[in-house]
Amino acid sequence: FSQSEMPRANAPGFNLEHIEHSNWLLEKTNALVEKQYQSYSLINGEAHTGAAKPLHSPANTQLILGEVVEADEKAIESAVTSACLSQAAWNNLGGERRALILEKIGELLEVNYAELVSLISREAGRTLNDGISEVREAIDFCHYYAASSRQHFVIPTSLTGPTGEVNELSLHGRGVFVCISPWNFPLAIFVGQVAAALVAGNCVIAKPAEQTPLVAAFTVNLMHQAGVPKEVLQLLIGDGAAIGKHLLSDPRIAGVAFTGSTETARIINLQLAQKPGPIVPFIAETGGMNAMIACSSALPEQLVDDVVTSAFLSAGQRCSALRVLFLQNDIADRTIELLKGACDELRLGNPWELNTDMGPVIDADALKLLTDHMEKMHAQAKVLYQYDSAKVPQDGYFFGPQIVELKNLAQLEREVFGPVLHIVRYKTNELEQVVEQINASGYGLTLGVHTRVESMAKKIFRLARVGNTYVNRNMVGAVVGVNPFGGQGLSGTGPKAGGPLYVRRFATERTYTNNV
Ligand code: NAD
Ligand code: ALA
Repeated sequence: FSQSEMPRANAPGFNLEHIEHSNWLLEKTNALVEKQYQSYSLINGEAHTGAAKPLHSPANTQLILGEVVEADEKAIESAVTSACLSQAAWNNLGGERRALILEKIGELLEVNYAELVSLISREAGRTLNDGISEVREAIDFCHYYAASSRQHFVIPTSLTGPTGEVNELSLHGRGVFVCISPWNFPLAIFVGQVAAALVAGNCVIAKPAEQTPLVAAFTVNLMHQAGVPKEVLQLLIGDGAAIGKHLLSDPRIAGVAFTGSTETARIINLQLAQKPGPIVPFIAETGGMNAMIACSSALPEQLVDDVVTSAFLSAGQRCSALRVLFLQNDIADRTIELLKGACDELRLGNPWELNTDMGPVIDADALKLLTDHMEKMHAQAKVLYQYDSAKVPQDGYFFGPQIVELKNLAQLEREVFGPVLHIVRYKTNELEQVVEQINASGYGLTLGVHTRVESMAKKIFRLARVGNTYVNRNMVGAVVGVNPFGGQGLSGTGPKAGGPLYVRRFATERTYTNNV
């Protein structure tokens, strides 16, 4: 695929260092401080009622954001039945009309930019900058997948053969697709999955994370306003395992797109294998044990800046975040000292405030996992840095940056989802063993390299079984259409989100042969 085949139009952003931009955003977000939201399952656009539970912000457990009603078995059954009945009409609408609807969703997301940033910060604890890039990414997904639809779904591909027959290859929706998304990108990943599944001609049952139902319900309402028929897009709110148990054993489900932990992906994969009915595609985008390799030619200030961005911003709660930094011996001590100084400068606080660098982690369970991990690290490794506990806010689930030195990557058994940076030193002649350690983890999502020696970067790229390699920059914030994103092995099945092959995976292929 060349650039000219896949038009790209990345959404506008804000620069919060510009006073007009920050004033505009803060004026809007501050006006929404007290707004209460509701999240119900939307079955044919109707709210599924039941016992409502309050939802609080991870940044402040006293701050109630609204209320949530969980789906029951009846809601799940109605959602699937209605979606199935609408499948043929939605598929027959054609790729051009579906692309227009996606572009309208992109426009409505842009109209609601400030409210979305506000809600993301309060519900998911993401900073204003994180919220801004997330809204941009969601808008980009809509426009990029609309362009994919025009490219692949409007005109069948003509295939000439030796006999003079007419042969055409065309793409069609598969049926009812289930889209299951995580809380750490409550808007962008939610929109990306749903938009791709819809534009490929599938009806969708969207199941967002239980921690972020408000952003999801707000967004589905925008999608319906944009012209997605209410029967075509159904929303189920509630606990993943409880909903998954019924939904994923339904023989009428035609495919599942999942983003979340590797452990949950395994459970879903097993359930789909045992479900009656057709064999269905499973698109899984999962966790990472992401490393960065810094050799002695790295520029120290740039390296430290990129490590801090990759490991600690978004409170380390990105699948792409840096977990293990391999430092060549010659630069290790100096880099560690600079990193400690940089960590001291990070400000933890309310994510909706302008000067906050790190918000909270998502919930009490996440906080406990991180606290338990650090206890283990104190016993089994060398803790190099702990953020001053007196500077950690106590109103919510805050966890300051930490740095730990390990002997090797194998000391980590699984992804540590938070702001803990692990460091491993290596000698000049050990580069290949470093890449072997990374490959041996089985994960393969992102990899950072800091070196001025291009041949070394290329060699690492060749040897490492990793989806996204970033050289001399940070390793987060993949841009739609520019850095198609996704991993391999324990990190996922592909295709890459925001890449030219993504939407096609949601479709089924048919050929038409006519011996005219
Ligand atoms: P999670 O696996 O706990 O939950 C993800 C989603 O799955 C949620 O909607 C949840 O309700 C649902 N779920 C849980 N159990 C289920 C079941 N048995 N059946 C059906 N659905 C079920 O993950 P999380 O904590 O929400 O997200 C963080 C994880 O996501 C991290 O591991 C992170 O690396 C990964 N992630 C990966 C990517 C990527 O693109 N590779 C992007 C973002 C997050
Ligand atoms: N796509 C997100 C990133 O690149 C996860 O950080």
